[in-house]
Amino acid sequence: MKVLGIETSCDETAAAVVEDGVKILSSQIASQVEIHARYGGVVPEVASRQHILAIIPIIKQAMAEAKVGWSDLQGIAVTNGPGLAGSLLVGVNVAKSIALSRKLPITGVNHLEGHIYANWLGGSLPEFPLVCLIVSGGHSDLVLMRGHGDYIVLGRTRDDAAGEAFDKAARILGLGYPGGPAIDRAARNGNASSVTLPRSWLKGSHDFSFSGIKTALLRMMEGGQISAVEDAAASFQEAVVEVLVAKTVSVAREYRVKQLLLAGGVAANSLLRQKLLEESPIPVMVPAPVLCTDNAAMIASCGYFRFLADKVDSLDMDVVASLKLG
Ligand code: KG4
Ligand code: ZN
Repeated sequence: MKVLGIETSCDETAAAVVEDGVKILSSQIASQVEIHARYGGVVPEVASRQHILAIIPIIKQAMAEAKVGWSDLQGIAVTNGPGLAGSLLVGVNVAKSIALSRKLPITGVNHLEGHIYANWLGGSLPEFPLVCLIVSGGHSDLVLMRGHGDYIVLGRTRDDAAGEAFDKAARILGLGYPGGPAIDRAARNGNASSVTLPRSWLKGSHDFSFSGIKTALLRMMEGGQISAVEDAAASFQEAVVEVLVAKTVSVAREYRVKQLLLAGGVAANSLLRQKLLEESPIPVMVPAPVLCTDNAAMIASCGYFRFLADKVDSLDMDVVASLKLG
């Protein structure tokens, strides 16, 4: 079964064709990152206009790369939330138009659910029950999955998402946008034990909190206590990763799961990947970095498993900017 995936929830216009939920036939992404970089963050109105310009060419490119025509497709999967409403509407309306004109079934995919399914695209398949740490620009969730489509959110951030904290810290340190990759790069030349930053453990809970680390970094920067930006970047990254890894491993142990998955843009972070693999007694799966950040292959994969479970949506499907998982 070949599924066309469409993703426009934030600032990447993406389309992909995936076979049987696991084999990527094509994955195309038109990034707007350079356009938003001059504003230091995503400007919603600009994002939706760029999606309108890019969506049809990117779908054509994805179908050409996969060497498929409309009659080779068996379904369309599109992100319908969470995300920027104006951006989501572009993908959802294009997907509905194709579904209507080509008489194809359509399914709406939760963007976070899509991030988890990036783990089905790496060659070997995850085993249930599993715990997945989803860390993106808008979310930091610890999720228990006992089967496809079955999500129990065990913990989430109480303030900033992990990716948001990386982006804010990079801005404080003058490292530019997007902040996560900039901190990751700068940290390679820094000493992680040179700047002392707090860790927020929230004992007795599986929740996270990252605003305290960011504020401590801001105070130190304002107080002239940071002499080398690389050292501050490495220390900040270490503080965030230490908490993410310790809490994730502890939850995986508590629920006696068979597998631990990493997902979302921050899962591309080199230290997080390395530490989780080193410190988890439970087998860890981490998607390739290009599948951690926003893409449509993960949406098509998730869509395939939704179609298998007869989760077909009608053409009345709407976007839900604050869509929740589970
Ligand atoms: O999943 P994603 O591409 O978009 C959302 O759904 O939000 O995640 C984007 C987030 C941004 O905050 C970005 O700074 C962060 O992922 N990110 C990283 C890295 N690459 C992307 N954070 C830390 N290290 C990285 N290498
Ligand atoms: Zn995302």
